[in-house]
Amino acid sequence: MKGLVLSGGKGTRLRPITYTSAKQLVPVANKPVLFRVIEAIRDAGITDIGIVIGDTGDEIRAAVGNGRRWGVQITYIPQETPAGLAHAVKISRDFLGDERFVMFLGDNCIQGGISPLIEQFGRSDHNAQIVLKQVSDPRQFGVAELDDDGRVIRLVEKPREPRSDLALVGIYLFDHRIFEAVNSIRPSARGELEITDAIQWLVGAGYRVSPYIHEGWWIDTGKKDDLLEANRLVLEELPAAVQGYVDRDSQLIGKVIVEPGAEVINSTIRGPAIIGEKTRILNAYVGPFTSIYHDCLIEESEIEHSIVLEHSSIRGLPHRLEDSLIGRNVEVSRSPFKPKAYRLMLGDNSTVGVL
Ligand code: G1P
Repeated sequence: MKGLVLSGGKGTRLRPITYTSAKQLVPVANKPVLFRVIEAIRDAGITDIGIVIGDTGDEIRAAVGNGRRWGVQITYIPQETPAGLAHAVKISRDFLGDERFVMFLGDNCIQGGISPLIEQFGRSDHNAQIVLKQVSDPRQFGVAELDDDGRVIRLVEKPREPRSDLALVGIYLFDHRIFEAVNSIRPSARGELEITDAIQWLVGAGYRVSPYIHEGWWIDTGKKDDLLEANRLVLEELPAAVQGYVDRDSQLIGKVIVEPGAEVINSTIRGPAIIGEKTRILNAYVGPFTSIYHDCLIEESEIEHSIVLEHSSIRGLPHRLEDSLIGRNVEVSRSPFKPKAYRLMLGDNSTVGVL
């Protein structure tokens, strides 16, 4: 079996972070979501992995490399235009050949990995297997309708009036029949070749499409709040580990990870939380569900339920920072200048909430 990871797209819902970088490289619990995807595929025993890349391809290549670090072999498949998930399958034909494969969207985060799925599909004679998850608002996803016997009867992409609460998780298993499907469908209203339509085509043509209901959590990390939620869920599952320096005046409460080269000085960290390599926490409080990536500084400030990306600093804030996603090389600090005022330099589409 082969793996196909989709890592193109513009990440419009995560701007301004994604003006300068790929959404799949935003870290959750200090590891890019894309790395978690590669590890899930590798852990299911698949080592031949293609990654479809778009505008942010150079950055993805630089971050992932040839895959040796994970014991896998990576092949990059450039997609000229983001013409849809089914289009990505189409252009990957040479890489995939006639082998069965798992397609995994590079921004999806799933609990428990994909080994059971891969095993089940490997043993079956199904032409495709889709992963479904009950969600409260299915309108933002592909939605599947099953009959009374649990067979897939209909799939609709982002329906205004969903006929079930079963969303299509961004993990799909296919055999070579999918190429017939992607070559037969037409672009959707948003101008893309939808994978949902391709699977619907398989169902209509009488091929065997089996559903797999996922019981654990699943997050499509397309937006800030989803990222924070994925961060919370992953942090809850990680064991505590202190490899950096924690001085005697500091307190670590609950599950805290302090990565090598990090320093915690005169501070309190209440887990689950992770402090990245070479990051300094000085006279500060880091609360639950917070991930501070590498080379950051948190000083004389309090932060909770947030993600801070690399090389950023937060200093001297009079109020606690919560529910925040802070980008790379960002400085947030109390200004000594008079008159007292907020002085901001924010990228396009930034969001700030002040007291
Ligand atoms: C895509 C698929 C959708 C699926 C979702 C899962 O949507 O088109 O069917 O439910 O991924 O993450 P997108 O995130 O591209 O809007």
